[in-house]
Amino acid sequence: MKKVTVPELCDMKNRREKIVMVTAYDTPTANIIDEAGVDIILVGDSLGNVIQGLPNTLPVTMDEMVYHTKIVSRGIERAHLCGDMPFMSYQASKEDALRNAGRFIKEGGAESVKLETNENYLDTIYAIQKSGIPVMGHIGLCPQSIHITGGYKIQGRENQEAKRLLELAKSTEEAGAFSLVLESIPRDLARRITESVIIPTIGIGAGPFCDGQVLVINDLAGLSPEPVPRFVKRYANLRDSIANAVRDFVEEVKEGTFPDSEHSYN
Ligand code: KIV
Repeated sequence: MKKVTVPELCDMKNRREKIVMVTAYDTPTANIIDEAGVDIILVGDSLGNVIQGLPNTLPVTMDEMVYHTKIVSRGIERAHLCGDMPFMSYQASKEDALRNAGRFIKEGGAESVKLETNENYLDTIYAIQKSGIPVMGHIGLCPQSIHITGGYKIQGRENQEAKRLLELAKSTEEAGAFSLVLESIPRDLARRITESVIIPTIGIGAGPFCDGQVLVINDLAGLSPEPVPRFVKRYANLRDSIANAVRDFVEEVKEGTFPDSEHSYN
């Protein structure tokens, strides 16, 4: 099966073919998502929220990200694999950033890294991609900066902030990023950014005009508890399906109807 590459992803924008990215954190889920035809699997630091039961992504470590990237990579044949650089894996120095980006590739089996981007990290993006590692930028709502922004708020509603994000998108492209996540920004701003850069934009809570869309697997499959953000569409309700299956199992064990002869050895 033909692997999705960085040049292929960039070409999809030229062909106006939408890019689909979904997060995964383990082998079986990655395998299901890959076979369902997604283009990029992101091992997001959303790991903290959806797998580790944390209130935010800040405590997630490099070792945890590398471990989850490694096990996700075992489930993939076709999709491009991107590893998300966790808080404090690139902020302190360019050297840290290079070393940690390298770990995603060498130990995790990733093919690119994503990092939450502001004006301070453009040199870092340049250095990582110069070392041979493709970089996905991420602007708008950056969950690693919630203590600065005051929470999970829509970004770019004011003219000045919208202008800053547009400039930041262009500078991120100039620094060498191959794609750009736009998180929680008004859709008209997402459209302006998408039309202003050559690299593909991938939106989450950024409306329909981006070159692609990303959702967290637990959100789209209906595993996350309510409430979920407005931009999430639940395509299934696995929470109820699993709860019903386990309830049935509990009932059958309690009443002695499981295991029956069909599920026992002679
Ligand atoms: O951590 C994550 O899952 C992400 C996506 C939501 C883009 O950054």
